[in-house]
Amino acid sequence: MTAAATDLGELPAELAFTGPRPLRGRLRVPGDKSISHRALLFSALASGTSRLWGLADGDDVVRSRAAVEALGVKVRNGAGSPAEAVVAGERAAPVVIVRGGGFDGLCEPEAILDCGNSGTSIRLLAGLLAGRPFHAVLTGDASIARRPMGRVVEPLRLMGARIDGRDGGRLVPLSIRGGGLTGMRHELAVASAQVKTALLLAGLQAEGATEVTEPALSRDHTERLLPAMGAALVAVPGGVRVEPASGGGLAAIDLAVPGDPSAAAFFVVGACVTPGSDLVVEDVCLNPTRIGFVDVLQRMGADVEVVVKEERGGEPVGDIRAAAGPLRATTVGGAEIPRVIDEIPALAVAAAFASGTTEVADAGELRVKESDRIGTVAQELAQLGITVEARADGLVITGGRPRSALLKSHGDHRIAMAAAIAANACDGPSTVRGWRAVASSYPGFAADLAAVTE
Ligand code: S3P
Repeated sequence: MTAAATDLGELPAELAFTGPRPLRGRLRVPGDKSISHRALLFSALASGTSRLWGLADGDDVVRSRAAVEALGVKVRNGAGSPAEAVVAGERAAPVVIVRGGGFDGLCEPEAILDCGNSGTSIRLLAGLLAGRPFHAVLTGDASIARRPMGRVVEPLRLMGARIDGRDGGRLVPLSIRGGGLTGMRHELAVASAQVKTALLLAGLQAEGATEVTEPALSRDHTERLLPAMGAALVAVPGGVRVEPASGGGLAAIDLAVPGDPSAAAFFVVGACVTPGSDLVVEDVCLNPTRIGFVDVLQRMGADVEVVVKEERGGEPVGDIRAAAGPLRATTVGGAEIPRVIDEIPALAVAAAFASGTTEVADAGELRVKESDRIGTVAQELAQLGITVEARADGLVITGGRPRSALLKSHGDHRIAMAAAIAANACDGPSTVRGWRAVASSYPGFAADLAAVTE
């Protein structure tokens, strides 16, 4: 690999690889993106000062921060004091300080809130703003404009929010005039943590209880973090119920965000498929709704293990160790899908290096992520010389010996990183084009990969 970058301005347009380089040593990845969005938004609604360490540094989370600032919340960077360092472990600095003024502390934004490439920002903010008695407009980039918003807008409208958008179901930009919500029961047709969180944020601001059930459990960071900030959430069969936030609303929190398992997954798979690798990713969020990829890799015979070391902010946190070895095909589908949905591009690379035919089913949601990940994964695996079939709801991948290739990100950060770990494991020169897409979640990926492949 010849290029490295640590911030958005320095990101190269493409990354070149020269041949297999084992991944060795120890590594920390950026803070979890899902928890970072929630920590910023929930702190903005809290009464008091929250201190957040280790927030994800990608553009998506920057968008959520900019949005809460545009809503009148003071957010600043600081440095950890010794007392704070104890809370944050080795991640003591920098800290982001959010001065929340309660739900009523938010004010009407003067400008449109631009969520960029961040589906989590736009959907969570839609739920938050649905309860606020003012007008706000949310927009995003071309990828966001293609992604389904009806799944969050329709139930918010049923609760009483006035939300308008373009015709045809894609809706963005969204115009929201919130307030006057009534709590209700929602049965989600598709498991979605973004929609679940949006409805719970609306429910906190509604009259009466709000219940959300889903067909399979999606990531549950909201259910863990909101109660830690004083919200009244209870589990119900297949879902969760929230009571309106009364009195002071949410309490401020000090939180050291653990590393992102979805970012760790690329290094873990990279270590599994690159001969001579033996790598530890430290301080990762090991929430069971997020580490389904470890179960899948273990079924494939991979040398991967997880060690839980502590609990932080209601989340299990610890290390993932991975070493190279032979892999065999597996099947992935059903209720496991929400637990692996963001890791399927990485797992597809593992399948490409495995013996036998791997089937991924029940994963139609991949079609509406940052790119159509069934189509983009299939295209890039084909470039590597792998036999792959793209189905409506999944992929059939016949593993083999991927060959070096010219690969593309399709503007999707996870496709870029999946391509990079595949390229790193192949014999001969490969290139990944459209590298700047990694800015959404992991601008420092190339530098971190370089550090463990020296
Ligand atoms: C996310 C939820 C998932 C995931 C996305 C982040 C979140 O989407 O794919 O990258 O932070 O809530 P769903 O809303 O489809 O579960």
